[in-house]
Amino acid sequence: MMLLAMTGNAPKHGSAGSGFFTKRPFSLFHSLCLLVIALAFSGQVLADCECGYQSDNLDGVYQNVFTDLIETNFARMPDISTNTDWLRQEFNVTKSKARGEYGEMFYINDDVEYVDNIGNRASDGVQLIVRQDLVDGMVPVAEIDTARLDLSYGTFRASMKLTATPGTCAAFFWYFNDTQEIDMEFLSKEFDHSKNTYPVNLVLQSRAAAAHGYDASQTDNFIKANLPFDPTADFHEYRIDYNPSEILFYADRELLAKMNGSNVPSPTSHGHLILSHWSNGNPKWSGGPPKQDAHLVIRYMKAYFNSTDPKRTQDWSGRCKNAKAQTSVCKIPVVTRENQTAKDYFFSDYPDKAKNQTVYEPTSGARTFEAVARWTLMVILFMVGFAGGFF
Ligand SMILES: *[C@@H]1O[C@H](CO)[C@@H](O)[C@H](O)[C@H]1NC(C)=O
Ligand SMILES: *[C@@H]1O[C@H](CO)[C@@H](O)[C@H](O)[C@H]1NC(C)=O
Ligand SMILES: *[C@@H]1O[C@H](CO)[C@@H](O)[C@H](O)[C@H]1NC(C)=O
Ligand SMILES: *[C@@H]1O[C@H](CO)[C@@H](O)[C@H](O)[C@H]1NC(C)=O
Ligand SMILES: *[C@@H]1O[C@H](CO)[C@@H](O)[C@H](O)[C@H]1NC(C)=O
Ligand SMILES: *[C@@H]1O[C@H](CO)[C@@H](O)[C@H](O)[C@H]1NC(C)=O
Repeated sequence: MMLLAMTGNAPKHGSAGSGFFTKRPFSLFHSLCLLVIALAFSGQVLADCECGYQSDNLDGVYQNVFTDLIETNFARMPDISTNTDWLRQEFNVTKSKARGEYGEMFYINDDVEYVDNIGNRASDGVQLIVRQDLVDGMVPVAEIDTARLDLSYGTFRASMKLTATPGTCAAFFWYFNDTQEIDMEFLSKEFDHSKNTYPVNLVLQSRAAAAHGYDASQTDNFIKANLPFDPTADFHEYRIDYNPSEILFYADRELLAKMNGSNVPSPTSHGHLILSHWSNGNPKWSGGPPKQDAHLVIRYMKAYFNSTDPKRTQDWSGRCKNAKAQTSVCKIPVVTRENQTAKDYFFSDYPDKAKNQTVYEPTSGARTFEAVARWTLMVILFMVGFAGGFF
């Protein structure tokens, strides 16, 4: 489109009265050259990953393939309010509904979410802050949800740095309803720096959990695992693999736990992902509210998944012509404790590797468009110069 508009412009400049152009008008040959060269630089010629993204299994073998992706680099995102992949949550929960000592006020505030405690704009990622000061008996808390509500099987990865301030629950979870939920919940009051123990609560919410007043620790689908590092000191990748055969929980690619059985959600449940930081004063869970504002910082979220939306399956069938072709399935690079290289890798940074994906990526999109425009302009100038007899 852009290319056509630009070549179309060339004769117009000519007819605008410049002698050079009218002397030797654009030939068909020149236009074709231009088309070929511009296409070569436009990146539209090569396609990749059109059949999906493949995840490593517990044994390190690349196995499950997922058709869709959502990738967000919060550290590079100038303004979450414009990001169409995420919805910031704003609602109030009463004390009784929150099942705690206090209610919760999920609030949106750009100043709060994007500025650190000494007023600097946060560049590490998006911050979800639980405030120490109550508002009308509610603890101010924060949550962001994926806009898409069609996530089935997948591998979900979030890089986070947790708060060391006791009295909050940081949660990274897949959610369909209160009995179909896959959770990683970090209770900051459980972190013990003196003993160097940092537990994480891995939960499949279930009917059984619901029957126990949602205290999942009374059920079989609950595992308290210890993280192999201090999660408050640095960013680490927390990962949930929701596979047909089982659910695996990882931290920096080290297995924390696996779960399966009757409380695994149904693959037809259309879930979404939630990143949340909350407190309701319940001494049996979050504790708190925190004695000072508590920050959860999220650097990125990468989700590769199958969609429950038949339209997306249809789109996949349309673009995946040959699943055996070498470049048609892309391996998702692994972030381990020793090798963090892949933390900065996003398929969506490369338009060829995220074709027909819905991901919102303003920076990379703009960058690619600029590069194409620059090359096209250079080629046009060259051709125009050539046609005009400068060379
Ligand atoms: C995801 O969907 C694709 C296309 O329907 C299918 O080939 C693949 O096996 C599915 N992946 C899993 C893990 O079920
Ligand atoms: C939540 O409660 C606060 C304090 O009462 C109020 O200012 C705010 O408008 C409420 N938010 C919503 C979404 O109702
Ligand atoms: C969650 O969804 C499942 C499947 O549709 C349903 O059986 C269950 O009753 C739902 N749970 C709640 C709390 O609504
Ligand atoms: C769950 O995992 C256990 C242990 O790995 C295995 O014995 C069992 O067959 C699995 N159950 C299902 C329903 O996949
Ligand atoms: C580190 O990870 C990157 C990305 O997955 C990979 O290309 C590279 O080979 C790894 N380096 C080592 C030393 O394993
Ligand atoms: C994916 O491709 C299908 C078929 O060409 C099209 O209808 C759909 O709008 C595309 N979706 C996205 C997000 O690009």
